[in-house]
Amino acid sequence: MVNFTYDIGTKVYFGKGQISALPASVKAYGSKVLLAYGGGSIKKNGIYDTITRLFRDNGISWTELSGIEPNPRHTTVNRGAEICRQNNVDVIVAVGGGSTIDCAKAVAFGTFYEGDAWDIIIGKAKPTRFLPVIAVLTLAATGSEMDRNGVISNLETNDKVGFAFAQSRPVAAIMDPEYTYSVSRYQTAAGSADIMSHVLETYFTPIIDGYLQDRFCESLLKTVIHYAPIALKQPDNYEARANLMWASSWAINDMIGYGKRCPWTVHPMEHELSAFFDITHGIGLAILTPAWMDYVLNEKTANKFAQYAVNVFGIQPQGDEMKTARAGIEETRRFFFQTLEIPSRLRDVGISEASLSIMANKLNLPSGYVPLDSADILKIYQACY
Ligand code: NZQ
Ligand code: ZN
Repeated sequence: MVNFTYDIGTKVYFGKGQISALPASVKAYGSKVLLAYGGGSIKKNGIYDTITRLFRDNGISWTELSGIEPNPRHTTVNRGAEICRQNNVDVIVAVGGGSTIDCAKAVAFGTFYEGDAWDIIIGKAKPTRFLPVIAVLTLAATGSEMDRNGVISNLETNDKVGFAFAQSRPVAAIMDPEYTYSVSRYQTAAGSADIMSHVLETYFTPIIDGYLQDRFCESLLKTVIHYAPIALKQPDNYEARANLMWASSWAINDMIGYGKRCPWTVHPMEHELSAFFDITHGIGLAILTPAWMDYVLNEKTANKFAQYAVNVFGIQPQGDEMKTARAGIEETRRFFFQTLEIPSRLRDVGISEASLSIMANKLNLPSGYVPLDSADILKIYQACY
């Protein structure tokens, strides 16, 4: 294992009714809140009313940043930063999925930057200060509720760029699985694929001595494979929603990656698809993953893929590692496209064939599990077109 410092600072309030911890969590930082949310799901399912009542009852004042888009835009970040500056906001409460929480994380540093927050996201400027962010999670998917990352899109330049700052990790996360009962089938499937992809990016890495981490990974994958179909059939199954929610956080809160070097590959490939076509992140990942697996399967990687087939899908070893590995990839395909009913081809989600080479040319992934250059990436895009 490589050296690491364990530091996962988010205080998690998990379970039914844990929203009652919100006022005290806010007051630890002040009493002026930016309430950030998306396109209105929290108004339909009653979460907005619960939160604003708690604010009123506890002397917390708030202003709102609403309409945060799936694949949040840098222009929305700048709008939020301006609201925070004008209202002397003490703390941001982000209520939603990854898009809302990511946007809030960017607003948190954008508030203290006079220019376009995009400068910080692309690394042209350094953040100086951060507002604290409290996440109220409503969709099990990205793990943004407990990680350092955020991903922001600039549709003018067709760029979708991630940032990761230690100070961006939410100071607290309220995770009530009941809040995810209203998530649609499509978003439940997409979120489940995203959780799995985070684990797979960490599982398939060049470091081979993370035995413990790999077993954590396999447990997370098995959890999603077991519970995602249940959540699809019974959206209000608490046990399924709870397991998916906790898996979403652990897939990317750093724990399974400590001690390993994990340069991701499928995510950067997907971010190009979202940047150009504004597609749902988890759907893009599901389409790309089996094609990526096929492409990087070789004599050197067969052992790890065979391990994945046996330990995650319970496939009987087939004598020949390559055969076992291929069976695991087929199971992955079956799970995404049949069990979760995710569209299986890029053409099905509105990607144009002509754009494949433009997107591939923007990417070069020399340090991934298997290094990939633009030509390799184009072949993977074409294989699942
Ligand atoms: O906007 P509203 O009206 O709230 O509706 C949302 C949105 O339309 C809806 N939704 C969320 N909770 C709901 C609900 N609908 C009904 N009931 C609920 N309880 O779901 C739709 C998608 O929401 P979004 O936040 O976009 O989904 P997700 O959580 O998958 O976030 C995706 C974004 O996160 C980034 C992605 O690239 C994408 O921009 N990622 C962030 C990461 C991170 N911070 O670490 C890592 C990931 O790999 C990912 O890149
Ligand atoms: Zn992801």
